[in-house]
Amino acid sequence: MIKFNKPYMSGKELYYIAESVLSGKISGNGIFTKRCQEFFCEKYGFKKVLLTTSCTDALEMAAILLDIQPGDEVICPSYTFVSTCNAFVLRGAKIRFADSEDHHPNVDVASIESLIGPKTKAIVVVHYAGHACDMDAIMQLADKHNLFVVEDAAQAVDSFYKGKPLGSIGHLSAFSFHETKNIIAGEGGMLVVNDERFEKRAEIIWEKGTNRTAFFRGEVDKYGWVDVGSSFLPSEIVAAFLFAQLENLDDIQSRRKLLWDHYFENLSTGAGKGYFQLPKVPNYATNNGHMFYLVCRSIEERSRLITYLKERHILTVFHYLSLHKSPFYGEKHDGSELPNCDRYADQLLRLPLYYNLELEQVAMISSLILEFFELDLIEC
Ligand SMILES: Cc1ncc(COP(=O)(O)O)c(C=O)c1O
Repeated sequence: MIKFNKPYMSGKELYYIAESVLSGKISGNGIFTKRCQEFFCEKYGFKKVLLTTSCTDALEMAAILLDIQPGDEVICPSYTFVSTCNAFVLRGAKIRFADSEDHHPNVDVASIESLIGPKTKAIVVVHYAGHACDMDAIMQLADKHNLFVVEDAAQAVDSFYKGKPLGSIGHLSAFSFHETKNIIAGEGGMLVVNDERFEKRAEIIWEKGTNRTAFFRGEVDKYGWVDVGSSFLPSEIVAAFLFAQLENLDDIQSRRKLLWDHYFENLSTGAGKGYFQLPKVPNYATNNGHMFYLVCRSIEERSRLITYLKERHILTVFHYLSLHKSPFYGEKHDGSELPNCDRYADQLLRLPLYYNLELEQVAMISSLILEFFELDLIEC
């Protein structure tokens, strides 16, 4: 069976976990947390980074930092994971859903402006498959209307927009190290603070509403309850695991991109014949090899392709369901149609992509996909 995902292990995860256990300090904000945070600051020039227990938590921190209140409106893509929106809904926000682009699952910037009103507080963008949204256009729109921008960079580690690292452009950004991502910690995440107005408060919210981090730096002589907050920081065990991954980031990225390119080359004949669409990386974006997907011509065809591949021991999976039609939020949506989002929900199919996948397996999966469409053509 070729699985959809297999977590990558560098081999040093247990070694660093042992180091942290033997150090006698395994709660959060210790040596490995600092090493991971410094890694991101040095490699990508992020000014302030806080590891979190998930991207969901980092998004919840963002919602607290932006002081989202009941009645505020937040614009989000409908084609995304629930956490993108849930973090803001938890603070009482109303979500206004934007459609995806015709040629990419990323948010269609043109569809955002009409959603902006007097109650709008923030725009949240998702860099789908690690491909950048059009950040210049989004930041201009936000500046014009005095809004905050949060980058949901869950899938976007080591990817760039016009040379700028994703996660460094919005006021705040959230990354995921869930085991399905390029760099993993089982469950894990990170908040990046690009607007220095939020730096001090972010540390407090991170540490349960206390000024404990400032205390450890010797800035105050005792620490206490100074604001709202929660336990957003991961233990040192998680950070130790993550550090072993970060040391291998360049190797992981080049392997994933190689596999991605191999899929693209092998499948381009099928795209040329109109069987499906291949990912189109915008010219202002880089590809971080996070995900390889096809867009089928219909949901029925996608279901048949999933079954065809499963019968041949290959697991492929679809992705998000339209949030504007979800059981939880469907009735609260303004009723507008979001056809591109619905198309990706119905027709997008993700193929296996992980470090230990072999090039021969990519070739085999690709030829089975082409075979499926050729056979389908004969049967029709
Ligand atoms: C776009 C997006 N945002 C947020 C998340 C949540 O990430 P986590 O599982 O780290 O909380 C995911 C999960 O895959 C995601 O795809």
